[in-house]
Amino acid sequence: MARIVVTGRIPHEAVALLRAEHDVWAWDESTPISRELLLQQVAGADALVTLLTEKADAELLDAAGTQLRVVANVAVGYNNIDVPACRERGVVATNTPGVLTDATADIAMALILMSTRRLAQGERVIREQQPWQWGMFFMLGTSIQGRRLGVVGMGQIGAALARRAKAFGMNIAYSNRNEIAPELADELGCVRLGLDELLATSDVVSLHCPYSPATHHLIGTAQLAAMRPDSFLINTARGPVVDEAALAHALRHGIIAGAGLDVFENEPTVHADLLDLDNAVLIPHLGSATIETRTAMAMLAAANALAVLRGDTAPTPIAG
Ligand code: GLV
Repeated sequence: MARIVVTGRIPHEAVALLRAEHDVWAWDESTPISRELLLQQVAGADALVTLLTEKADAELLDAAGTQLRVVANVAVGYNNIDVPACRERGVVATNTPGVLTDATADIAMALILMSTRRLAQGERVIREQQPWQWGMFFMLGTSIQGRRLGVVGMGQIGAALARRAKAFGMNIAYSNRNEIAPELADELGCVRLGLDELLATSDVVSLHCPYSPATHHLIGTAQLAAMRPDSFLINTARGPVVDEAALAHALRHGIIAGAGLDVFENEPTVHADLLDLDNAVLIPHLGSATIETRTAMAMLAAANALAVLRGDTAPTPIAG
């Protein structure tokens, strides 16, 4: 029997799956575990099932010990995992791609509609009991039909958003390290552009790239200045892909028209300059937050951990 440490609360079905085969210690509070306790608890673990709120870095891997075989992240993004440090120690690192594609694309589409149609601002009018009346020019937004969506990072989530946006009448452009499969490009009717051209020509830019040193502040002052003054920026990827201070400045000074953000540079803190901006829609990292999706993510992470402990190939190892 192996020892599995689950570093945060996950759906009970997944814990039960792990417990059916192994000895499991799981943090079960709604707030994240302290680093100190985590470092103690991982000692002797053969597998770690990790959440975004816990860093699986060299220090944690070493605190676990040389018997550690797998770090199974319950997320598609894995910037909390030091993948090279895992590789150096012969530890398999896994993530949960696929199962959260639709949920995250839904949230990106929702942010596009919330931003362009000023929905959060409208809701504030009602809740704050501000005086209002239907009027020909009251709270006008921007139509998205016939407008260009620029997808930065055309992976599974980017493509799922593009499908949704196409159904809403948008045209699709993308920038990506590699060209996408011709069948997908045909289905989406999309064009591939360099990032600069995509920023300069898109009405809505949506970020779907992974976070790494290469994408840190990919969108900063210069990139925001390259965008059109009537355009919108959507981020459901990772906060630090965007320079939040530069974004707040751009929103305040009309350099771009609006932004919809599900992720932030220093979560759970949100840059104070964003908080009073009516043209910023701010939601608390809800991309994969449905019961069905979170359950599927946890079950996939558990399957990854169990496969490695059995000596099998993990279903979704982190590539590279
Ligand atoms: C959520 O942000 C994830 O990466 O799964």
